Amino acid sequence: MSHIGSYEERIKDFSWAIAEKELDYKEGDMINIGWYCSDRICKMGKSSKLALIWEGLMGQERKLTYDDLRKTSNTVGAMLRKLGIKPEDRVCLFMDKIPELYIGLLGVLKIGAIAQPLFSAFGDESLFVRLENAGTSAIITQKKHAPKVRKILDRLPNLKHMIIVDFDPSKELQPGEVAFDLWNTPWVDELEIHPTYAESPSILHYTSGTTGQPKGVKHVHYSLISQYLTTKWVLDVQEDDIYWCTADPGWVTGTSYGIIGAFCMGATQCVMDVGFSAEAWYKFIEKHRITMWYSAPTAIRSLMKAGDEIIKKYDLSCLRHLASVGEPLNSEAVIWSERVFGKPFLDTYWQTETGSIMISNYPGMKIKPGSMGKPFPGITACVLDTKTFLPIEETGKIGLIGFKPGWPSMMRMYWNNEETYKNKFKNGWYLPGDRSSIDNEGYFWFVGRDDDVINTGGHLVSPFEVESALLENEMVAESAVVSKPDDINMEVVKAFVTLKPGFEGNKDTELMIMNFIRKKLSPLAMPQEIEFVPNLPKTRSGKIMRRILKAKEWGEEIGDTSTLEDD
Ligand code: WT7
Repeated sequence: MSHIGSYEERIKDFSWAIAEKELDYKEGDMINIGWYCSDRICKMGKSSKLALIWEGLMGQERKLTYDDLRKTSNTVGAMLRKLGIKPEDRVCLFMDKIPELYIGLLGVLKIGAIAQPLFSAFGDESLFVRLENAGTSAIITQKKHAPKVRKILDRLPNLKHMIIVDFDPSKELQPGEVAFDLWNTPWVDELEIHPTYAESPSILHYTSGTTGQPKGVKHVHYSLISQYLTTKWVLDVQEDDIYWCTADPGWVTGTSYGIIGAFCMGATQCVMDVGFSAEAWYKFIEKHRITMWYSAPTAIRSLMKAGDEIIKKYDLSCLRHLASVGEPLNSEAVIWSERVFGKPFLDTYWQTETGSIMISNYPGMKIKPGSMGKPFPGITACVLDTKTFLPIEETGKIGLIGFKPGWPSMMRMYWNNEETYKNKFKNGWYLPGDRSSIDNEGYFWFVGRDDDVINTGGHLVSPFEVESALLENEMVAESAVVSKPDDINMEVVKAFVTLKPGFEGNKDTELMIMNFIRKKLSPLAMPQEIEFVPNLPKTRSGKIMRRILKAKEWGEEIGDTSTLEDD
């Protein structure tokens, strides 16, 4: 049993007003996530409490109290205001996991602007389509990423300012560039917080679909209500916890639970800007006495692979609660964590569009390894028939997950794309696009996605985006991108490519094309394998049949090929 009571108790007479009350919020009041995550905690008498413990790539360390977080985010807000950034302008945060990213997001929100975090490993093309779509006014970045921005600047008329947080003063700034060194700037003690309300836009996250360009998922300040309560009830974060969310704020887990969740609770949050290594991770947990750890299946599988011996070198007895998100958490990983850490990783299911945890295993609840658990109180979830979109009553039958719209952190719109937004609803249900079954005790069992989007290590990659980028390579005539199975990342990107006359498909060509995609899009989108083929399977109308190629990779039945051109 956890300190917040049992799941059954929580679900009885549930109302989001519980969170509103704990946050001293009433309908119609101002609500600003930046203020809630810093100023409010200080007002509650916790100014000197540690908010952020950060470790950098070179072993650097920074510790910020809640008062530091309040003042530094004020300073970012004031700087942006001075540049002329207005409420609802989009400000992109394009940084590694450095303190400026965490502080910057709160600063942007405090002045009522919309924060657009983007994964810093994105190449220029990935960056371009998202900045263009959002009509972004300013980007905050590091000098090492600035060249990618400069390369696309002339195609982005709305992008007026590039703020560089570690600019080398011996160099010369280009027009529109601003050097902003937060650590050598007087901090702003008083900032007028922009009066944002429940429905004022807050964060714009980009997510990939099967067709078309990535979609901007618009969230609002009221999302805090869901983020606060799920952090408390699912992640079990309490005031005195030392919390570590391993996600990058370029993705939604890294903002909802890697920034907002712990800060609005007034807990201490740890951040490590170092790539994965089992030793480094265990050392980090031991050193900071981390009590609550939120991670992802790919990382857990990598830790399993590193072996049990290495765990014995560290004192990890500080860990109190573990949770996971992003992709299916296999039962082996749950059982393994229970054995080596003495606690299971609890699976949680949600997505960029839902803004907060929707289905999960709760502290104290019976865990069924391999199941995603049950809906959060206040969330009505079901599985729907794929044709009628009516809830399936029968247990164990597979259908599309459906959520009754209306929870606080639900997306409000896809940026400039109302049509795609509307298509996410059928028969009054919001469809996240995943398939699941429900057992006789109400537990959800994830089956798979209902589209061709590739989930590699918990990151969604659109086959369409990779195919479009491949076509820009001078050697490529046609391509089809599918997933293939992978022990650690669950799935990885694989490309089938036909080459233009005069080019030969060999190891060198493969490497050149892989590199091309890594630079243009990102390391995640880079195909791990390219298979050169003389032609691709197509329907009679000329559409490439990814389904056939995918089935082959997964050793599955190919299914109906009656519309195939020639088999
Ligand atoms: C998609 C959302 C918000 C989490 C970070 C990813 C898949 C997410 C699980 C899980 C199986 C999962 C779904 C979902 N997914 N959690 N526990 N078990 N699959 O956010 O990039 O919007 O991806 O990730 O397919 O729709 P995202």
